[in-house]
Formats: sequence, structure tokens, C-alpha cells
Amino acid sequence: MGVGLIKLGVNIDHAATIRQARFTPYPDMVRIVSEAEAGGADGITLHLREDRRHIQDDDVFTLRTKIKSKMNLEMAATDEMVEIACKVKPEDCCLVPEKREELTTEGGLDVLGQQARLTDVCHRLKEAGIEVSIFIEPDLEHITAVAEIAAPVIELHTGTYANTKGEERDQELHRLITAAEYAHNLGLIVNAGHGLDYENIGPILLLPHLNELNIGHSIIARALFVGIRQAVAEMKVCLS
Ligand code: PXP
Repeated sequence: MGVGLIKLGVNIDHAATIRQARFTPYPDMVRIVSEAEAGGADGITLHLREDRRHIQDDDVFTLRTKIKSKMNLEMAATDEMVEIACKVKPEDCCLVPEKREELTTEGGLDVLGQQARLTDVCHRLKEAGIEVSIFIEPDLEHITAVAEIAAPVIELHTGTYANTKGEERDQELHRLITAAEYAHNLGLIVNAGHGLDYENIGPILLLPHLNELNIGHSIIARALFVGIRQAVAEMKVCLS
């Protein structure tokens, strides 16, 4: 897929973080979604965490009927979450690792350590008509393992790229490019995300076969100044 066709999934978790900081009814997540879509979001991503620190169960069920683009539900590969996903039936589910004490998703899912369990989870989600993606480090062994468990999509973790500078960042970019090419050759759809912002996004567009980027924190932060519609529109310009 060429540059200009990369889809933008807008992660709205941190709009919910503001609401949960005071347990207020605002900001209205339905309005957040409609504004993000008006700005050009190709999909809405939300992460229902085990500790419910931002997105709540009600958000997932309510937004299912309000999202006009597509819903990407991020979740841990637990029975509780699989049950919820099978009820909600989002278009996409992204399986991520989860630790209670982490500030945000740290590292990709350890596919090698739990191939049998993930095969079962993918099967159950697929039966519900959901396209499953797996959030992984740009590591060839993990990519091979995803292909083996027959998940159709990977999301490459761009956190290390985002958190480094200079030569280290260049090396990580190279790792991401190699991983994207390798995954594509195995027939996988390639998404990416985490830690991306208006400044560091440029080189990420060099990733071959990139289908979709999922971006949240930087867009919600920018929205404080320009509103969410404009913040999303500006990120769309960066992607094109
Ligand atoms: N993709 C995945 C799998 C994530 O877990 C997150 C964070 O929830 C994102 C993308 C978005 O990351 P950020 O908020 O840093 O843009």
C-alpha cells in the first residue's frame, strides 16, 4: 500500500482518562468519536483494560452503535475480554499485553510463550466475525509465530522508535522496516502504533505495506489547543 493510503485509527483512551480523573459524565465519548470521524478518522480504537482506568464497559457497548467508521477494541487475551468482544463484535480486536502497574502498554505480546492459548483466542474471535491483530515487537520470530497461529494482522510496536533518538532511533526504524517487509511476505496485514506524534511520524511512513497507524495520546493532547476534529485532520495531513 502506498503512502497516502495509510489509514488512521484514532485511539480515544485518553479522552476517557480525563473523564475518569473526576468520574464526571464529560467529555462525552460519543461526541469525541463523531468529532474524530469528522476530522477524518478511518477507525476508532479503544482499550478496555482489566483495571478499567480509562475506557469503561459502557463506553464499549454504547460506542459500538455510534462509531460510523470501524471499531478496533484493544484488549488482553483473557477469557473476560474475549467474552466481552464476542458480545460487542467490533470489526477489529487488537490483542495486547497488559500489566496493572504499567503507565501504558509496554512491549509487544509474547506470542512465542503462549501460541496454543492465542490460537484458541483468535479462533473464538474469528468465529464472532472479528478481524484479529496482534501487537508485537518488530521481531521476526514473533512475526513467524503470529503467522502460525493464523492471525491475519500484526500491529508493530513503535514505542522504542518513539522513545529513542539519533542512531538508536535509526536502528529501530530499520528493524521496523525489515519486520514490515517480512510480515507482508508471510501474507500478514501490517499496522503500527504507539508513541507516535506529529513530529516523529514522518520516517514511520517509510515502512513498506503499512495499512494503518493507531495514534492516541498525541492527538488528544493536540486537541486541547485545536479541538479533536482539527487535531485528527492535522494528523491525516501528516499521513499523506
Ligand atoms: N496501539 C496499541 C496496541 C496501543 O496499546 C496503544 C496505546 O493504547 C496505541 C496504539 C496508541 O498509542 P499512543 O497513545 O501512544 O498513540
